[in-house]
Amino acid sequence: MRALFKDIKGLVGCYENPPNFVAGENMKNFPVLENAWMEVVGEKIIGFGSMSTCPKAPSGKVQIISCTNRYIIPSWCDSHSHLVYANDRAGEFLDRLRGLSYEEIAAKGGGILNSASALQKLPEDDLFDRSLDRLLEIVKLGVGALEIKSGYGLTLKAERKTLRVIKRLKQVSPIPIRATFLGCHAVPAEFNDSSDYTDHVISDMLPQFVSEGLVDYVDAFCETGYFSIEDVTRLIDAASKLNIKCKIHVNQFNILGGVKLCVNEGALSVDHLEIIDDADIAALKESLISGSPTFPVALPLCSHFLGLPYTPGRKLVDAGLPLALATDQNPGTSPSGDMTEVVRLGSLKMGLEPIEAIAAATLNGAAAMELENEVGTITPGKLANFFVTREMSGLEEIPYRLNDVVVEKVYVNGELWVG
Ligand code: NIG
Ligand code: FE
Repeated sequence: MRALFKDIKGLVGCYENPPNFVAGENMKNFPVLENAWMEVVGEKIIGFGSMSTCPKAPSGKVQIISCTNRYIIPSWCDSHSHLVYANDRAGEFLDRLRGLSYEEIAAKGGGILNSASALQKLPEDDLFDRSLDRLLEIVKLGVGALEIKSGYGLTLKAERKTLRVIKRLKQVSPIPIRATFLGCHAVPAEFNDSSDYTDHVISDMLPQFVSEGLVDYVDAFCETGYFSIEDVTRLIDAASKLNIKCKIHVNQFNILGGVKLCVNEGALSVDHLEIIDDADIAALKESLISGSPTFPVALPLCSHFLGLPYTPGRKLVDAGLPLALATDQNPGTSPSGDMTEVVRLGSLKMGLEPIEAIAAATLNGAAAMELENEVGTITPGKLANFFVTREMSGLEEIPYRLNDVVVEKVYVNGELWVG
């Protein structure tokens, strides 16, 4: 396809030479070119500019798409999801409405272990079909790059099945996908403790899965009742010997020192951070000095769904950090892959300006899965993954419109996908 998008009210995140990420006050400067054009050839963006410089397209050869009163935004880059699972956990949700906490539900055999026993029983092809349905659903909602974790297998066989499903999704997916091995997600009943199970993950699973080409990153749930700082330190060291970077679940319920550990070990991201202290923020700032920071990733749908505090996004950005926003799509704490809703909550609950929330959900999300050279901004040479909004007077209409659909037309690899 060759297409010229004209009269765009605002072309968001457009750069000739984009940075790898945006941090602190630069997030407010994520560019919006008013009254703009953009041209796409094949699967790539090839140019953009102000309407005063709009190329005269020879008629018939180029599709002209008028975007009057509409914004064009780079597709959402969701850097944290658990999209591959067997079933939802709506029954547990009823328990929670009746007063049980996340921890209490887990203690009675619900939670992650419940999802693991369902996934262990499900044939790989069924797991693939269900996961592909979810993937195609979120692409329709404007997601143009995605990270997917394993972690509902919890045996060598079932974790491999999950990672194989992610690999098969990569092969058929219209959007780029990164695979994260989250072996240390919960301790299976047949192990004495988290340390024993971590030994199994490090010795038996990780090297095999890496040699089979199934792993881009490694993750662990660093939390009281799940995996300790000692467990996670050993896991990160083992991954780093295999040249694999980490993205770690930290500070969801308790501060155990995971942020400092991850920064010291050069982790790509620390995710959740519902609870975070000044020492953690200082550690994250340190990581910026190298130019390859540990990205703080906030997951506001999880806070919304579990009634947890929201990650203090405003504070993190004011501290100069490159905040990323993601869905955490999973059956237990965030049964949604809707990044527009994440961006809304970023403004409504975390105090971000709409443009900051958009930068966090596009370029910084891409950077938190090392896909910033392919997606995340409107840049010549990058994939033409973007969406056209409904008519809007300003970007503030995204959070303002609560439940209204704002993503009107979705383009993936230069092709119209929805709209
Ligand atoms: O990111 N916190 C750990 N893992 C998931 C939830 C897992 C579940 O409850 O199924 C999360 O929130
Ligand atoms: Fe998660």
